[in-house]
Amino acid sequence: MVYILVETKQYNLAIFASGTGSNTKKIIEFFEASSFITIALIVSNKPEAGVLDIARANSISTLILEKERFFKGDAYEPVLKEFGIDFLVLAGFLWKIPAHLIHIYPTAIINIHPALLPDFGGKGMYGNHVHEAVINAKKDKSGITIHFVDEHYDHGKHIFQATCSVLPTDTPETLANKIHQLEHEHFPRIIEEVVLAKYNLQ
Ligand code: GRF
Repeated sequence: MVYILVETKQYNLAIFASGTGSNTKKIIEFFEASSFITIALIVSNKPEAGVLDIARANSISTLILEKERFFKGDAYEPVLKEFGIDFLVLAGFLWKIPAHLIHIYPTAIINIHPALLPDFGGKGMYGNHVHEAVINAKKDKSGITIHFVDEHYDHGKHIFQATCSVLPTDTPETLANKIHQLEHEHFPRIIEEVVLAKYNLQ
């Protein structure tokens, strides 16, 4: 009998995150059984970030960024290459991505933002600042935006949006909970769709 070994290429993802990492946890769980996507590296600029505990608990390698090297040096390109990283996912990462990385990863870096861009985005618009701004503007809906990353904050081409209602009784905390639920529900599968489309895997 002749066996033919068909090798499926693995696409290696790096998740960039600086917070508690609830999205990262969902993404890891979602791709645990994937035959073509591996979460190969968790990258953070904060050595104390909770997301690093999630990485360790799942035996995923971590990389802590130093500002000087990220912005003025090689932007860690050699390290990303060493881990065979194909695709970058930003899940609560607050630093701007250097132009160098955007050029070497064309349409291969995506971000999730906790509001309906183009409103309530840009520098300083993160975490509860976003939700406070939405509530102060008396909006009756908010949501999430998943988009490609370019050289400007929260600016690249939109991939997906989902909405939730904002009630007069909502506080930044209750709105943050609704937004997190939307993120957890949609982000992993949208990442999968974008990777499938990029590498013509459908
Ligand atoms: C999310 O709300 C995401 O939209 C924003 O940062 C937050 C990260 O949350 N970019 P977590 O650390 O994944 O819980």
